[in-house]
Amino acid sequence: MLPVSKSQSLGPSRAKWSNPWAFILATTGSAVGLGNIWKFPYIAGEHGGGAFILVYLICILLLGLPVMLAEMLIGRRGKSSPVGSLSVVAREAGSSPLWKGVGVLAVTTGFLILTFYIVVSGWAFSYITIAASGTFTGATAQQIDDLYQVLLSDPIRLASWSAVVIFLTMFIVNRGIEKGIEKASYILMPGLFVILLILVCYAMTTGHFGEGLRFMFYPDFQKLSVDSVLMALGQAFFSLSLGSAATMVYGSYMPQHLSIGKTALWVAGMDTLVALLAGLAIFPLVMAYGLHADSGPGLIFVTLPLAFGQMPFGTFIGTLFFIMLTFATLTSTIALLEPSISWLTERLRISRFQACAVAGLVVWVLSLGTVFSFNIWADKTVFGKTFFELLDYITSAWMLPLGSLLVALFCGWVMARAVSASELNLSQRAYVLWRASIRYVAPVAILMIFLNAIGLNPF
Ligand code: PHE
Repeated sequence: MLPVSKSQSLGPSRAKWSNPWAFILATTGSAVGLGNIWKFPYIAGEHGGGAFILVYLICILLLGLPVMLAEMLIGRRGKSSPVGSLSVVAREAGSSPLWKGVGVLAVTTGFLILTFYIVVSGWAFSYITIAASGTFTGATAQQIDDLYQVLLSDPIRLASWSAVVIFLTMFIVNRGIEKGIEKASYILMPGLFVILLILVCYAMTTGHFGEGLRFMFYPDFQKLSVDSVLMALGQAFFSLSLGSAATMVYGSYMPQHLSIGKTALWVAGMDTLVALLAGLAIFPLVMAYGLHADSGPGLIFVTLPLAFGQMPFGTFIGTLFFIMLTFATLTSTIALLEPSISWLTERLRISRFQACAVAGLVVWVLSLGTVFSFNIWADKTVFGKTFFELLDYITSAWMLPLGSLLVALFCGWVMARAVSASELNLSQRAYVLWRASIRYVAPVAILMIFLNAIGLNPF
């Protein structure tokens, strides 16, 4: 076993977060996104509310948190791009350099997710302008639905909004860790929290807050199927951005004295808090106007605008809501781009500017596939899925969990115990729990997601 000291660093020296909050906010920014505000409420709505949320919380604690620690651990130990870090840490463990393939997989996954994420983020940007112009006021369900359909059917409009999103992302990432990602997180994350709190307070005034609370927290276990459990698991990984190298690359900029365990707890806690608060902001409004909370992906872009159109101060509240959504998505697109940029600059020895320009352009061109799948390619499907659905499915249901599985196996079985113990520096009991999760619980749980996905019910 290698003798390790806590201050030992293996990779080259690199940029660092200027203080613990910068890292916590940026990583929370990566985690908080469409997953929390768009996906979580409607999935919870469809799967019976409270019972689903309970399972989700267990998944976050038992599986998500340990894998998040593992990603930060690899990043900080390797102090390189995700690919570089895995190869450095594998070498240290005397293992095969092929482990860097896990880094390649994770970076590729993040890159592919980015190609559709900017499109949906673009909807949020476009909805700011729609909401602010007062278009929702008094509109009928049909008119609101038309707004959504008209947006989706217009490739030029969609591609232009995606271009805005990727351009903003490139601009911020190009400015580097301290001046770019950190600064953006300092503005966007507190902004998001303030808006979210305003929205929750507003929801309290609707007279339906209790109903929303009950819907979210009353555990109806009858509605909980095997499918919902695995859904909760997948959602926990997506929401914490695990398997995409985002946490790994952010971890690589983490100063040695920061506690990985404590920061990961903060991030997972805040991510979960935002998901729950988003539900508490959304459900009472939806219920106050007799709308359905289980209306699927349209919950945010159709059901909610309908409620905005009928409520007092709806234009203001609706505009704030979509501003909040763009803040949430922007910090995620930044985190999805950074792994590729760190790899490109390290591998090809090009500048950040060149890497951002090339990667951003490729992302935007690839995003056209998603754009077209809502209009001119809408009827072109493979296995009944459009290009967008297929990409979302392959990345979220397969690539992210696979990346997380390999990261867990790597930290649990390949990395020397002394290395992970000294780098994590947890209490004895926490370390034993972490190691048990990473070696056994997380891999088995992820394998069950896969079995279920190929139609072999694991129970
Ligand atoms: N966690 C983000 C969300 O909830 C999505 C994401 C996945 C961001 C992977 C970065 C990396 O929307």
